[in-house]
Amino acid sequence: MEVVILEGAEQVGRVGADAVAQHVARDPRAVLGLATGSSPLHVYRELGARVARDELSLAGCRAFLLDEYVGLPADHPETYRNVIHRDLVEHVDLDPAAVRGPDGCAADLPGECASYEQAIADAGGVDVQLLGIGATGHIAFNEPGSSLASRTRVKTLTRRTRLDNARFFGGDVDAVPTHCLTQGVATILDARHLVLVALGAAKAEAVHQMVEGPVSALWPASALQLHPHVTVLLDDAAASRL
Ligand code: GLP
Repeated sequence: MEVVILEGAEQVGRVGADAVAQHVARDPRAVLGLATGSSPLHVYRELGARVARDELSLAGCRAFLLDEYVGLPADHPETYRNVIHRDLVEHVDLDPAAVRGPDGCAADLPGECASYEQAIADAGGVDVQLLGIGATGHIAFNEPGSSLASRTRVKTLTRRTRLDNARFFGGDVDAVPTHCLTQGVATILDARHLVLVALGAAKAEAVHQMVEGPVSALWPASALQLHPHVTVLLDDAAASRL
């Protein structure tokens, strides 16, 4: 695990974009793993700037999302599919049809999870996976207690995560879905390169547990210690407990 402590969010964005760009330089058809949340936003902004300057093209890439809420209608602004379109896809030259996330409105949710796993495998696996981390140490929506061997499945969101995400639902925790579909910890560990971004003091404990704690389902991000190629990009505040 390579831990890089950077001056601020913009520098984190640049180094994160460098990591993605390296994979795309090696293979213009690289498979990208995309995360929602505020942590990767600076990376997305930098990718957008590089595409606008013609320094980078994601036109040949495919992309998979980590997770999705269950039950939000397709036109709801907070589906992760819509969020990633707003935050990234509209600002780069990725083909929108080449960006896939699990369908949280599928009639058969376990079947959707299985076909999502299959789609990732059929694409040859994820080359570079961007990740944020929740204050509870969750990655994607793998909440504390998630099996480290888990694959894409339906999960119940913790009250803490629903409270954290209420800001996207007008501050109303009851408007936040109670369930989600999420890639499992083992699904995430299958990606060839993991790039985790954490910013701010609220993530310091989770970062400490991820990097220095024992590998434990109580802090799902600690499973990243088992992966051979992880880059952790932190600002000073997120690194303050290391
Ligand atoms: C959500 C997402 C995670 C994300 C986490 C942290 O729960 N499912 O993928 O990493 O929140 O979000 P943020 O980066 O906004 O702090």
